Amino acid sequence: MTDRPLVLATRRLPPAVTARLQRDYRATLNESDEVHSPDRLVALAEGCDAILCCSSEKFTAGLIGRLPASVRAIATFSVGYEHIDTAAAQARGIRVTNTPDVLTDATADITLLCLLGAARRAWEGEAMLRNGEWVGWSTTQLLGVHVTGKRLGIFGMGRIGRAVARRARGFDMQVHYHNRRRLPAEQEEGATYHADPDELLGLCDFVSLNFPASAETENFLNAERIARLPDGAVVVNTARGTVVDDDALIAALQSGKLAAAGLDVFRGEPKLDPRYRELPNAFLLPHMGSATIETRDAMGLKCLDNLDAFFAGKEPPDALV
Ligand code: DGY
Repeated sequence: MTDRPLVLATRRLPPAVTARLQRDYRATLNESDEVHSPDRLVALAEGCDAILCCSSEKFTAGLIGRLPASVRAIATFSVGYEHIDTAAAQARGIRVTNTPDVLTDATADITLLCLLGAARRAWEGEAMLRNGEWVGWSTTQLLGVHVTGKRLGIFGMGRIGRAVARRARGFDMQVHYHNRRRLPAEQEEGATYHADPDELLGLCDFVSLNFPASAETENFLNAERIARLPDGAVVVNTARGTVVDDDALIAALQSGKLAAAGLDVFRGEPKLDPRYRELPNAFLLPHMGSATIETRDAMGLKCLDNLDAFFAGKEPPDALV
């Protein structure tokens, strides 16, 4: 059948997603999973009706302007969509969708993993064992930051921020949050609102960054804001690398101003500022917030739900533009 829409999948997809994509569409797959260059993307998009992309491809206004006229929808396999110039897409009449909700729990879990892993020096302990350096239990070995009863400041109280708040309460943390606007009481998860982020920073034993990436949140955690944190605070970032000023964070980890950081995301991924690798008090993960089998299946199937709606002439459930 040649009348089914042609979808370009820019990266390798989970098997269940590939199977449904191939059942319902004609598909150009990428089993090598290499990130396509912009030129290759434009060439592969020739004749395609839609693109199923990931956050690894940057759909700048320039690239969108070069896409063939056949492309009418872009479904991104991510909740974050800062890699797509949605205004440029809208101007060309291209619908854009994302995958909210289905990755909330997995990403909140990784946030707590980063928080605990950083506070309790998890990788240092594991490295000690793996390197054969453990000589036995000691009263002073690998002492970390106590979590129970401490104040956590969540910056960005969207779906993931709220799921982090619920989990942190399970650890008996005192949860506070800053958001552009205060949430209705029933959505606050028992957290205390602070309109002024700088005032909240002054109270935080732990900071969890859960903002979406935007011009407004770029370098949110800079040197001035880190200086406001109590000495020995722990910073967790599972949002996007761009919300942190790396020079400032690295200097604070080097000086001991911050006890530790748990980081799942980095500016310029997959490159990593090499100074992070040298920091014993940085617990580092390779952007794996949504990396569970169930979540990645659900994200991919959500992309297809959106494309199905679009090609059926209905409003895609997760339409951004
Ligand atoms: C998301 O969904 O935004 C994840 O961070 C993967 O890019």
